[in-house]
Amino acid sequence: MPDVTLTTLQGLKQSGEKIAMLTSYDATFAHTASLAGAEMLLIGDSLGMVLQGHDSTLPVTVEDMAYHTAAVKRGNKGALIVTDLPFESGTSLDQLLRDSVKVMQAGAHMVKLEGGAWLAEPIIRLAQMGIPVCAHLGLTPQAVNLFGGFKVQGRQENQARQLRADAIALEQAGAAVLLLECVPSALAKEITEAVKIPVIGIGAGAGTDGQVLVMHDMLGLSLSGRSPKFVKNFLEGQPDIQSAFAAYVKAVKDGTFPGPEHGFA
Ligand code: KIV
Repeated sequence: MPDVTLTTLQGLKQSGEKIAMLTSYDATFAHTASLAGAEMLLIGDSLGMVLQGHDSTLPVTVEDMAYHTAAVKRGNKGALIVTDLPFESGTSLDQLLRDSVKVMQAGAHMVKLEGGAWLAEPIIRLAQMGIPVCAHLGLTPQAVNLFGGFKVQGRQENQARQLRADAIALEQAGAAVLLLECVPSALAKEITEAVKIPVIGIGAGAGTDGQVLVMHDMLGLSLSGRSPKFVKNFLEGQPDIQSAFAAYVKAVKDGTFPGPEHGFA
């Protein structure tokens, strides 16, 4: 059991204290980020891009996810560990359930699934098995080929309506946490207020219950040399990585990150 539990996250939402989450892929960074006060560590399938150098998250395997989850677990000091189910887990419900078991056995406390209302059945089955789910809506990187690139989602009214309906359906199915990626700030705030579960945003403005960033992005590291609009380099002006993580946690908590310039209209 981690020090931070689902009950902690629900309490933070109710009290209005923002939740700080960072991606993490190995023991040392997990140790540093959790000691800096991040309540949640995400073993994102972004590891396919930032660790493995692929141009999407699609090649990542469940063995990769379990390997990095086990490493993060060894370094973690009390944060709640969330592990992405990779693209290949979506081939069937059985596969998804089996892969969830693998990453939970490796050390995750929650799995993250990308997708909308159609995830209701897996969420119900996972809850029956005692596995909490973080549902990921908006720009879901595993669907990059469907979206025609890494693009903001929910700008058109029909897309926004779909996202609102998906968020409600996922909460009703039993999702424990919702993650919104690259959606207009006003829409993300509206969804956050409409659901009781904690909502974590990335590129979704300041109106969500918490924030997540990919660790490499917020340390100013990039293979392409470009940085997404929603990223801030927290290493700038800091003496070391532990201080950069602490500055990120503080900025999320005091509401100075994200600023309006990091969001989408
Ligand atoms: O894979 C990942 O790191 C993610 C974050 C971008 C939210 O899903």
